[in-house]
Amino acid sequence: MLQIKELKKVFKSGDTNVLAVDDVSFSVSDGQFASIIGKSGSGKSTLLSLLGALDKPTSGHIMVGDKDITKLHDRALIKYRGRKIGYVFQSYNLVPNLTALENVMLPMEFAKVPKKQRIERAGKLLDQVGLKDDKQKRKPGRLSGGEQQRVAIARALANKPQLILADEPTGNLDSQTGKMIFDLLHDLAKTENTTILTVTHDLSIAGKTDVTFILSDGKLVKR
Ligand SMILES: Nc1ncnc2c1ncn2[C@@H]1O[C@H](COP(=O)(O)OP(=O)(O)O)[C@@H](O)[C@H]1O
Ligand SMILES: [Mg+2]
Repeated sequence: MLQIKELKKVFKSGDTNVLAVDDVSFSVSDGQFASIIGKSGSGKSTLLSLLGALDKPTSGHIMVGDKDITKLHDRALIKYRGRKIGYVFQSYNLVPNLTALENVMLPMEFAKVPKKQRIERAGKLLDQVGLKDDKQKRKPGRLSGGEQQRVAIARALANKPQLILADEPTGNLDSQTGKMIFDLLHDLAKTENTTILTVTHDLSIAGKTDVTFILSDGKLVKR
């Protein structure tokens, strides 16, 4: 269970304060597929980076299971980021000089998984997201956008995270490929019992998730 309580993030620029996330509270159960929609600048990316502990809130609480991650110190935070969270970004963020398989193995290396197991699990995950053998040996530059995003999803799953955070994961894909990527995320939420929180512009996709949150000027306006 993910529980967000009275979360706030203020950015100071000069003498003005931007309330990017303004007193947001909501919760998502394990295995739920949730979407966040809202106009550009409404605070979606800021909210995701707080949940992923990539940035610290000004105030409020983020409970992941029974842990408040806003209270974790540096080492525990690094562990949380690496082992409990999987990230998927609009721009895939794969390492260009590593093969698809090596990209998926990388988070497991940080988690000190033995090499043989890393290779095995990475291969399995890539099979699961539909990337065939020969393509697993290719570098990202020789894969299509949709294929690269499949690799990024497999990488996000590598350490069996409790939570996957996806920021506009289909933003660079055509609508048909985008729909396939969303269906894949949906299936994974169910089969792996992983909570998935995704930001999207695509209302037809958001309508298919278990729950949709709408942000406007940093505030949650509907849930
Ligand atoms: N690092 C930052 N410094 C100052 N202002 C920021 C920063 N990041 C985001 N903002 C501001 O916070 C608001 C929300 O931004 P963002 O979370 O990126 O929105 P969205 O992802 O919904 O487009 C915007 O007004 C944006 O300009
Ligand atoms: Mg954004």
